Amino acid sequence: MLNKIETFIDNLSFPVNPVGLYEPITYSLEMGGKRIRPVLTLLAHELYKPCGEAAMNAAVAVEMYHNHTLLHDDLMDGAEMRRGKQSVHKKWNANTAILSGDTMLIEAFRLIDNCKCQRAEEARKLMIDTMIGVCEGQQYDMNFETRNDVSEAEYLEMIRLKTSILLACAAKLGAIVAEAPESDCNAIYNFAECIGLAFQVQDDYLDVYGDPAVFGKKIGGDILCGKKTFLLINALQRANAEQREELLSLINNAVILPEEKIERVTQIYNTLDIPAITQQRIAQIYDEARQHFAAISLTAEAKQPLWNFAETLLGRKS
Ligand code: IPE
Ligand code: IPE
Ligand code: MG
Ligand code: MG
Ligand code: MG
Repeated sequence: MLNKIETFIDNLSFPVNPVGLYEPITYSLEMGGKRIRPVLTLLAHELYKPCGEAAMNAAVAVEMYHNHTLLHDDLMDGAEMRRGKQSVHKKWNANTAILSGDTMLIEAFRLIDNCKCQRAEEARKLMIDTMIGVCEGQQYDMNFETRNDVSEAEYLEMIRLKTSILLACAAKLGAIVAEAPESDCNAIYNFAECIGLAFQVQDDYLDVYGDPAVFGKKIGGDILCGKKTFLLINALQRANAEQREELLSLINNAVILPEEKIERVTQIYNTLDIPAITQQRIAQIYDEARQHFAAISLTAEAKQPLWNFAETLLGRKS
């Protein structure tokens, strides 16, 4: 399945000129990534029909859009590393990340247009609604940087928008293109949305506790941005008055050395048992995902590949 996706991406042809526009696009697409969104599309599709051109176009449309979001996200987050290499704004510059990123967004629409299927209008609408939702999520993510009172409910809605709905969209698109029954399309969406929530909580966890060689991003980036991650929100809730004051003064301190800030915040997380709490929450979200999975009207055996894939994301390191 991964081979099919890579081959399809390799066969996308971009003009050579202007080099400054297209080189960063091939750089991004060729630097890999886990391709979990297109895999979700194809797995959901194959529950109903063998994969053809329409499913491939839908799958790669989502992956193209995802790569677009990464160019802009790294610029917004000031992140210098992506997939173990320099991020586009770092290797080139901000304007490049904006314009090559925009081009990838438009290319994603071209791919969705190429997805010729019975329910093409529904597929297109789902993509558009999802893209708007991701922008809303990204805006909340930025708004929360300067707030110290973000609740877990607000956090969950923010990550649902910035991350989960794209995984949900990816999976549902596969089902739509396969002309699956409406109720199954919705169950698959809800299932993948839960997987997406767990995926982002794990991303927050890896941002602090990941192995930089495997994770491919710089550790501690969220701490330096003051991101209201699952870890920080729970630490603030569980901290005593003294710990809370220390945590807030660290997060809002622009003078302290970055390494020291990351180390001291991590120490507080450790003291408050945040790693275990985070992993427990991920397991709990998987239990919710299981309920939506049960609503898919196929035999347990037929739908197992989708669950197996979701399970591989549990405890992921990259
Ligand atoms: C990164 O997504 C952005 C998040 C939603 C956390 P992935 O972790 O799927 O990134 P790649 O495509 O595998 O690099
Ligand atoms: C991911 O959020 C959301 C989008 C890219 C839309 P993050 O900012 O946590 O993603 P990473 O950690 O940079 O991959
Ligand atoms: Mg980021
Ligand atoms: Mg971000
Ligand atoms: Mg992150």
